[in-house]
Amino acid sequence: MNAPRTTGSQLPPPMAVLLELTHRCPLQCPYCSNPLQMDQVKSELGTAEWKSVLDQAAKLGVLQVHFSGGEPTVRPDLAELIRHARAVGLYTNLITSGVAANKARFDEMVAAGLDHVQLSIQDSDAATAEKIGNYAGAQQKKLTFAKWVREAGLPLTLNAVVNRHNIDRVGEMIDLAVSLDAARVEIANVQYYGWALKNLAALMPRFDQFEASIATVAAARERLKGKIVIDYVVPDYYAKVPKACMNGWGQRFMNITPAGKVLPCHAAETIPNLQFDSVRDRPLAEIWAKSSAFEAFRGTDWMPELCKGCDQREIDWGGCRCQAMALTGSASEADPACGKSPFHAQLRGMAEAASHAAAPEFQYRRITPRVDQKSDAPEPV
Ligand code: FES
Repeated sequence: MNAPRTTGSQLPPPMAVLLELTHRCPLQCPYCSNPLQMDQVKSELGTAEWKSVLDQAAKLGVLQVHFSGGEPTVRPDLAELIRHARAVGLYTNLITSGVAANKARFDEMVAAGLDHVQLSIQDSDAATAEKIGNYAGAQQKKLTFAKWVREAGLPLTLNAVVNRHNIDRVGEMIDLAVSLDAARVEIANVQYYGWALKNLAALMPRFDQFEASIATVAAARERLKGKIVIDYVVPDYYAKVPKACMNGWGQRFMNITPAGKVLPCHAAETIPNLQFDSVRDRPLAEIWAKSSAFEAFRGTDWMPELCKGCDQREIDWGGCRCQAMALTGSASEADPACGKSPFHAQLRGMAEAASHAAAPEFQYRRITPRVDQKSDAPEPV
């Protein structure tokens, strides 16, 4: 029996809301999760609008707010928003590259009640890290930022996105996290939609590199038990089962863009024909319960027969809708990461071919000029 959609008063509140305060960012990572067409600064929500979002989120039952971007610390009102979030009872997490804020700004955030910091790194090797982010001097700034976090007594999570250029240094990245006194390190292989899809050939690791990274992580988990938590998100194209993306579409999570559009995930705008409501036009609780974009893939009613008949349907929820869209041309297909998907073998073949070819130059993430999403992304498998 498939899970019906739960709507209105039966629908549990989201656990977390991620606020993309801005799409501005000093880094230009070729796998950036922001959309190809980014929001301009003049369209960003103002301080009062973000405070209203925080009020509404708390009232709805949200527990945790992630301040993200782009780079959220370029917003001068960040400390004020953190203070407001704390005042309405939300746990506050800052997701940052660590390159844009000076110590005085960081101290303001701590004084405002910041609870936790997630700091991104591009590599343990500074030269490669700075090539990936296209920002000279970034690594030292990140290490300094990490030191401030721990000196302030805040828990630190280090995030690293791995790809063909850095996956051989997964062990060094874990060691770096330990040396920075992080409580957790999240190592995630690139997910291919948006900017990453444009850069697929430049980023795809070989299968043997992936296998070696698995062994490295397993050994590190054993060696560092009780000292640091190591999360490893394996690459979908070499997986056999899909991940439960967002813990199920429209079930635990909301993402709000700089201009106020409310999305079920950060990449949802890559799915054509979905209508996204804005916090400027509709209350947040109503968007969560009734927005057509959230309803589109909530529960199991939308699933193709392959997923409906699968005993994993309420565990992986059909995988990632954005990846299905990017790689099959339809968001209603099973995620091709699933071994049962008719597209799975092609996906694996594409990954093998791309990873054995010479890596092309990165197409760096830039906020301008306007980019045509369809112009140079690979064709669906
Ligand atoms: Fe959109 Fe996975 S990123 S559903």
